[in-house]
Amino acid sequence: MKNAPWWISEVIYQIYPKSFYDSDGDGIGDLAGITQKLDYLKELGITMIWLSPCFQSPMVDNGYDVSDYRKIAPEFGSMEDMDRLIQEAGNRGIMIMLDLVVNHSSDEHEWFRKALTDPFYHDFYIFKESDHIPNNWRSVFGGTVWEKVPGKEEYYYHTFHRKQPDLNWENPSLRKEVISIVRWWLDKGVAGFRVDAITFLKKEDYAIRPEPDGVDGRASLTGFGYDVDGIGAFLEELKKEGFDYKPCLTVAEAYGVKEEHFKDYIGDQGYFDLMFDFEAADLDYEGDWLHPTNWTIREWNDKLMNYQMKIQPYGWCGTFIENHDQTRAASKYLGDHARNPEAVKTLGAMYFFLRGIPFIYQGQELGMVNFSRERIGQFDDLSSHDMWQRGLEQGLPKETVMKLINRRSRDQGRTPFPWNGEKYGGFTEGKPWLELTREYPDINAASQAEDPESILSFYKELIAFRQHGKWSDCFKYGNITPLKSHEKVIAYLREYGDKRLYCWFSFADESLEIELPEECSDDSWHTGRDLYIKEDRLTLLPRQSVILCQHLP
Ligand code: NOJ
Repeated sequence: MKNAPWWISEVIYQIYPKSFYDSDGDGIGDLAGITQKLDYLKELGITMIWLSPCFQSPMVDNGYDVSDYRKIAPEFGSMEDMDRLIQEAGNRGIMIMLDLVVNHSSDEHEWFRKALTDPFYHDFYIFKESDHIPNNWRSVFGGTVWEKVPGKEEYYYHTFHRKQPDLNWENPSLRKEVISIVRWWLDKGVAGFRVDAITFLKKEDYAIRPEPDGVDGRASLTGFGYDVDGIGAFLEELKKEGFDYKPCLTVAEAYGVKEEHFKDYIGDQGYFDLMFDFEAADLDYEGDWLHPTNWTIREWNDKLMNYQMKIQPYGWCGTFIENHDQTRAASKYLGDHARNPEAVKTLGAMYFFLRGIPFIYQGQELGMVNFSRERIGQFDDLSSHDMWQRGLEQGLPKETVMKLINRRSRDQGRTPFPWNGEKYGGFTEGKPWLELTREYPDINAASQAEDPESILSFYKELIAFRQHGKWSDCFKYGNITPLKSHEKVIAYLREYGDKRLYCWFSFADESLEIELPEECSDDSWHTGRDLYIKEDRLTLLPRQSVILCQHLP
């Protein structure tokens, strides 16, 4: 494709450093551990690693609370380990993307410490003088967004935890600091940034909201705490002065961006290269985890397709089914079929061939599943603890709240990576910081590596097919159009030049008859042993994926 961006051929693998591989036996994954496992990633076929934060941090939110953007968290290693990782990954043709967490810092960052006494740094954060909580806004992790400064009639603002004070993007000196951090890492050789919580940078007037939406009398931040008009000027500057400094790929965690702003966020002139959508990922609850939904395949399909169609005119998105804030996709989307390899493969293929740059979250390629915990003490994730509190405050029975948290906890995706079936899955020689899933003796990398039918082998095939197969350019550059199909089938057409790919992914328990749109029999790709096509009819087997490829004359 003419003028295609260089990153169109990337397949990105997300690593949550704390849970990937522990090289020194302290029970916590580290950078040297990642370096030791690069050959596994190379063999999988990915081309870039998105590293969740590995900077110095008190780890209240596992690194999403940075206390020094230019230092590595000691539990993850040293700057030499980071340099080595960048170098060794590069030797294998793999680039490193960092997680840029600059909506907030840790309250243990030097800037915040100084802010309490020094007027220059005071303006790096959002303080309000007041003898009472300034408004009724609810933080994303529960409770008020305001924390009192000890010994003063003053509060500071935090979108997330009280130990994650928001940075004041209205202040040009703060913005300059962030830009210099971006350039510093680009000079070190990183290839991009996933930019955390980016829509929260600008806030509205801090007025009290007349319509609270919870029993706590507070209002969630929708409409005034994120995607607020005027944010564009900050993002534009970050791009021009920061990201444009060297070629790099930027991905926005752009929660809640309104459709009319898509054109500003991505595309040739956009603030970012890619953005993530959360509509489909969060289809299983409404508002918060205490309110689960009875979603259907049709709704899932519609959410996916709506977003694909809306974004297509402007640029590309990052496609994903898992990340460190989500539960395991097999458990979420497949329910009783979470352990059914055919279903897991179809789930993988369905999202992998959407229009966008595919992201794979560690362990997804093994078909990892959720792990049901019994006590709140087994959870590390702070939003799980918050939800537990909120559930009990709302008078829900303990068992119900526990069930709802298990269904949604962010710890589901954070269990240590099972490298083999031995003690602690070969993740550590020590005691892992978080329990492994019960399934690790069955679901682990070693047992799947040699099995050509395994989910891991299938992910290798998926990647190779997209990257180097005969239809690769159609997957990478092709447009997408939804295809009408059965209630339990997700179907779409990818088109590029004279090539067409008709894609069907069944999540049904029964075989389905699909009427073929026209002759499309040049080539095919499918899961399951057999492909049944008779004249103009395809029999799609339960949980089967079928792609029919056509090269127009
Ligand atoms: C989004 C990150 O993905 C999540 O893990 C984190 O807790 C919040 N932003 C705050 O940084």
